[in-house]
Amino acid sequence: MQVDISEFKDILDVSWQTTSEIHWLIEQLIALQPKRVLEIGVAQGGTTGLFSRIVGPDGLVVALDITDDLVDPRVRSLENISFLIGDSHDPAMLEAVRAASPEYDFMLIDGDHSVDGVLQDTEMYLPLLREGGLVVWHDVRLDAGEGIKQVWYRDFRRKLLGSFEVYAQPYNNGYGVWQKTSVTVDAFEAGALQALKAGRGQVEDFRRILKNDCYRLKSWEALKALAEQTGDEALQREASVALALLPPHSPDCVRGLVSGGTVSEDPVLAAGLDALNRELAGEKGPAIDWPVAMAASAGGFHDVAEARIDRAQVSDAHNLGLLLDRIEILERSDALITDVVAAVADAVRVSAGTAREAGSEARLQDAMRRAFSACYLLQRYSSPAPLLEACLTSRSDLAPLLTEILLYLCTMTVKLRVRRDQVMDFYLSYLKRSVEAAGAQLAPGHRRNSEIFLSGAWRAHQSEATG
Ligand SMILES: C[S@@+](CC[C@H](N)C(=O)[O-])C[C@H]1O[C@@H](n2cnc3c(N)ncnc32)[C@H](O)[C@@H]1O
Repeated sequence: MQVDISEFKDILDVSWQTTSEIHWLIEQLIALQPKRVLEIGVAQGGTTGLFSRIVGPDGLVVALDITDDLVDPRVRSLENISFLIGDSHDPAMLEAVRAASPEYDFMLIDGDHSVDGVLQDTEMYLPLLREGGLVVWHDVRLDAGEGIKQVWYRDFRRKLLGSFEVYAQPYNNGYGVWQKTSVTVDAFEAGALQALKAGRGQVEDFRRILKNDCYRLKSWEALKALAEQTGDEALQREASVALALLPPHSPDCVRGLVSGGTVSEDPVLAAGLDALNRELAGEKGPAIDWPVAMAASAGGFHDVAEARIDRAQVSDAHNLGLLLDRIEILERSDALITDVVAAVADAVRVSAGTAREAGSEARLQDAMRRAFSACYLLQRYSSPAPLLEACLTSRSDLAPLLTEILLYLCTMTVKLRVRRDQVMDFYLSYLKRSVEAAGAQLAPGHRRNSEIFLSGAWRAHQSEATG
């Protein structure tokens, strides 16, 4: 579905979501066509205004917040919004929400982000979601010491069958999503099987199904079995790797991927390990297969990934960046993420003074973005210091990109009030240096925003906004 986000741009300017992630949400809402929406956590009302437009004049948005001080006047005046001001955890508030509508088609839970707060909001209001309705929690990838990430991964993700997370860009804070659906898993599996049986030409269909609907599978084993039925080895491999890369919260995922639970018994992973071992031993052998290494990592076999990190070259930086996404979500290993970021820094250094092929340069830059994003999301804000140094000392031409990334991280730090002073001081010190290094190459918008951050003007703006 093609959605023209510019249609909503005026109102989304005051939303606390990033454009790429809200794009995904708008697509879902246009498909769902909700008429009754509950939003917990309104702030300036950017998302509230969006929902108001989506439900239309005959629909209703119930907008709940502990304060309406921040609400934009354009949103405040919309007729199909009912503002309920008070604590979402108050039983009287639940009654007020129920009185406004006994059932809801869509809910956004974006209020109190603490462990207890998110749990309470969910337990209190989820029973009001209709069958087939959609619920979205914002910030499930964000570990700001607040708690929503813990609740999402350790609790809801396991309890709410079919729940999954969505993020469009490595920087996104992520949506947790669950649909109270009556779609049967059998019907879904029949669709997946059909796409698989249609053969190699339909690989794209198969990937789309995995991406969009894998969460409806009864078990990971089932999809692997479906892939086996095709008799197509490439497709089976694709299924194995895809399964490994999907959220690995189900033990079925690991069992489905690795028969008997040992890497050596799985032909795909065993081949990957064999290639790796040969390379480490200096033997000529098949090239290392990164999807396999990542799959092994997702299955808990860190040795594959860890062994490779020492040997990072520029051409591998992109793969390392992709690996970061997996580690970040898995929350596996502190040592591993530090090593991967250091390896990306090495790749940046190695690329200094060499002729750079456009494709590999773009991949290197993507790996940098992912590395910063992974550290930020995990609140290991000082871990990217070697990468920042590598960019500034050996690749000063990357300073404009660094400025852009650092501005984003500063903005998010302000918005999300994440251990602000310590984190901000760290980013600001590098922002200052990257602005100096970027000199005249800096885009005017980035120059202006850098000045705001470096002069500390954001502090005044923020204290004004939060009263
Ligand atoms: C992240 S903002 C909401 C952003 C908004 N959904 C958007 O995307 O533009 C969180 C909001 O939740 C509100 N909030 C926090 N704790 C709350 C509680 N216990 N009850 C009601 N609202 C609460 C805050 O006042 C704040 O406005």
